[in-house]
Amino acid sequence: MSTHNTLTQFIIEQQRKVPEASGDLTLLINDIATACKCISHTVSRGSMTGMLGSAGTENVQGETQKQLDIITNDIMVETLEWTGHLSGMVSEEVDDFIPIPEQYPKGKYLALFDPLDGSSNIDINLTVGTIFSILAGPEGSDASQDDFLQKGVDQVCAGFVLYGPSTMMILTTGQGVNGFTLDQDVGEFILTHPNMTIPEDTQEFSINMSNQRFWEPAVQQYIDECMQGTEGPRDKNFNMRWVASMVAEVYRILTRGGVFLYPLDSRDSGKQGKLRLMYEANPMGFIVEQAGGSCSTGLQRILDIQPTDIHQRVPVILGSKNEVNRVIAYHQK
Ligand code: AHG
Ligand code: MN
Ligand code: MN
Repeated sequence: MSTHNTLTQFIIEQQRKVPEASGDLTLLINDIATACKCISHTVSRGSMTGMLGSAGTENVQGETQKQLDIITNDIMVETLEWTGHLSGMVSEEVDDFIPIPEQYPKGKYLALFDPLDGSSNIDINLTVGTIFSILAGPEGSDASQDDFLQKGVDQVCAGFVLYGPSTMMILTTGQGVNGFTLDQDVGEFILTHPNMTIPEDTQEFSINMSNQRFWEPAVQQYIDECMQGTEGPRDKNFNMRWVASMVAEVYRILTRGGVFLYPLDSRDSGKQGKLRLMYEANPMGFIVEQAGGSCSTGLQRILDIQPTDIHQRVPVILGSKNEVNRVIAYHQK
């Protein structure tokens, strides 16, 4: 293994291109990598840890928490709270924002995360992941809830870590998207997928078909046309994939293109979709756009949404640009 293509070296080299950079972001990304290595190790031990299954509690979204939702949340919080790089955190698993304990210095960034995405897959040994978003915070003082309510376009950094057959980190700081694979023996993320890009066209879509009757008309039309294949207006056959882990779907789209939809659902009009803006849609939207794809609600670019709540939900349509644009066009009709 060469030590010249580690995540650490990569982010230090990126930092050197910004002369005024203090190095805090570099250290913060390293801390997130440390937490995710620990999560990778924990989830890889599976049922040997005795930690699979439900915790018997609900999060703020009313979803039943898995034991590993709580354990991975604690790993993220305990790894990041004392480092002095953050002035606050938001987690899918915690109702209010998480302040930095009094005894630790406050830093200039905010971290928002989904500690275990796709956790319904944990008991069946399928791919899960951690999603994170970094925002600028109030330097040196405690954050308030309002400090987190920034548009996705203002993210400083976003990434996700995939715990699959291999553990990978996908990262952007606004200069393209790079993928790193964890060398489990050495304990380092190695740059294996530089400059990831999403093809503009695709013949693969990703949606939970069991919700079809609740979708909005634009999504009904789009999927119906895909399903008609060569006999319909698209004049080509489509393939379908649904892992039920957004991390796995977005990684697949970064690798070979595709379109992912978790649309508005007429059953829960008050909820505005299933996925959460601040720690699912925004970081994934930043990554997808940086890789040349698009990310929209169907009516609005995700990264332009002004958040009003740290746990708010949004419809998400992301992936290959020409397909996302087509779905947007159907919404405008
Ligand atoms: P989480 O496990 O963090 O709650 O997120 C699960 C999300 C997302 O990863 C996935 O795309 C979607 O929920 C799956 O939804 P269905 O269960 O409706 O298929
Ligand atoms: Mn999630
Ligand atoms: Mn989660």
